[in-house]
Amino acid sequence: MLAEFQNISKQYDHPVLKEISLTIHRGDSIAIVGPSGSGKSTLLNILGTLDRPSSGRVILNGQVVDKLDDNQLAGIRNRFIGFVFQLHYLLPQLTLLENILLPMLPVKDKLVVKEAEQRAYKLLDRVGLNDRVTHLPGELSVGECQRAAVVRALINNPGLLLADEPTGSLDEASAASLGILLGELNREEEMGMVVVTHSMEIARRMKVIYKLHSGRLEKIDQP
Ligand SMILES: Nc1ncnc2c1ncn2[C@@H]1O[C@H](COP(=O)(O)OP(=O)(O)O)[C@@H](O)[C@H]1O
Ligand SMILES: [Mg+2]
Repeated sequence: MLAEFQNISKQYDHPVLKEISLTIHRGDSIAIVGPSGSGKSTLLNILGTLDRPSSGRVILNGQVVDKLDDNQLAGIRNRFIGFVFQLHYLLPQLTLLENILLPMLPVKDKLVVKEAEQRAYKLLDRVGLNDRVTHLPGELSVGECQRAAVVRALINNPGLLLADEPTGSLDEASAASLGILLGELNREEEMGMVVVTHSMEIARRMKVIYKLHSGRLEKIDQP
């Protein structure tokens, strides 16, 4: 088991998540849909340890998250979780390859860095960016940048890929092709994937779809 939510609740000035339980296994792909403000990002951020629940328990890779200090949490995020956001957040002054290898900067082991470099080339090739490796983000389309952001999220071979509206700033065609890519990567890389999206087109690329509604997850049938 990769991750588990046990009765997760989150309260701001109103209840946002109500006793949500969810188990994620290797190879699972989950879409979470729901209107703006329904708590999708809150749920994803708690799963990614960027936020803490008001009550309940998160277990990641066998570890109970609320028992970990900030350093240990940062460690889990670096090793175990890949994030993709609505905006790609690539640094404009670095090439695609440099952006993707940025998380490897603190790593001293040359062999590990070499392996990451090879993985970067392989993944860039996989997402159709093999001829864009030395380009700056400004020289690429938003869709291409988002593909590079997916590669960056996968560079550490994470167990869990979390994406929050990854196609939110893409045109329809780029969004559709990113959806297909995520579905394929989920099968090839065998990680667990949770994608928050407004788009049923993206959601139906995932094996299971939940709607977040009144603080609870309802499974909905594949359209
Ligand atoms: N840091 C915060 N402080 C107070 N309220 C918040 C905070 N983050 C989110 N909320 C509230 O929680 C609810 C869910 O927000 P969010 O998870 O961003 O929804 P979604 O991603 O589905 O649009 C909203 O009512 C939002 O205003
Ligand atoms: Mg959101």
